[in-house]
Amino acid sequence: MSPSDEEIRAGQAVYAPASLSAYDLVVHGVSNHWIWRCPTHQIERLYDRNVSAAHVDIGVGTGYFLARAHWPVPNPSITLVDLNPHCLARASARISRHAPSTVKANVLAPLPPGMPGAPFTSAGLTYLLHCLPGTIPEKAIVFDHLLPHLAPGAHVFGATILGAGVAMNWAARRLMTVYNAKGIFSNASDTMEDLVEALNHRFCAVDIRQQGVVALFEARVA
Ligand SMILES: C[S@@+](CC[C@H](N)C(=O)[O-])C[C@H]1O[C@@H](n2cnc3c(N)ncnc32)[C@H](O)[C@@H]1O
Repeated sequence: MSPSDEEIRAGQAVYAPASLSAYDLVVHGVSNHWIWRCPTHQIERLYDRNVSAAHVDIGVGTGYFLARAHWPVPNPSITLVDLNPHCLARASARISRHAPSTVKANVLAPLPPGMPGAPFTSAGLTYLLHCLPGTIPEKAIVFDHLLPHLAPGAHVFGATILGAGVAMNWAARRLMTVYNAKGIFSNASDTMEDLVEALNHRFCAVDIRQQGVVALFEARVA
């Protein structure tokens, strides 16, 4: 079933300027460690292992990981894709030293042709999938929209908070219930098994591991 415009809107509308100002502290400072039980440095290492000279980041938030990543070249080409213009502005300003390109797009629809910086040799999708409506098999259409813009051998990586088949502490259960009720998260049925299947179906050298309630994934375009 296709997600409604309202469901798509709910997955990104919360990222207004005021909430973006608190986002890094709340999510990467507190929630990752104590609620999702995936220390933020694990995701930073994921970026360091995978970013390349031609990178596209999808669902950019404040640009936290992009600003902290160790890039393999002094002047990487970076393209930021997000539906929310506040996120694009915030992340773009944060890494202005790299003069990133921005693309305002809903990743549940095909991405525009002629994306600046394409073909990309790396793509980051961190904390995006759990915000998208639908089940993992449905939201994995994001990868299909991305694939035509990626170079052979490109690294595709990211992290997502799982909502089913994982052991949660009290705070995680509470927050997950509230966020799913508001449509900020749509991950109540997201499982590791479905994510493994979605990635294996499209990519090679798939590596996924679970840290707390977070799935960290890395894969390559054939
Ligand atoms: C939880 S934030 C993650 C931000 C960042 N990657 C991080 O890990 O700090 C999710 C991001 O995905 C974006 N997003 C949500 N739904 C989207 C959609 N349908 N199309 C494009 N971007 C979307 C939001 O605007 C937001 O920037």
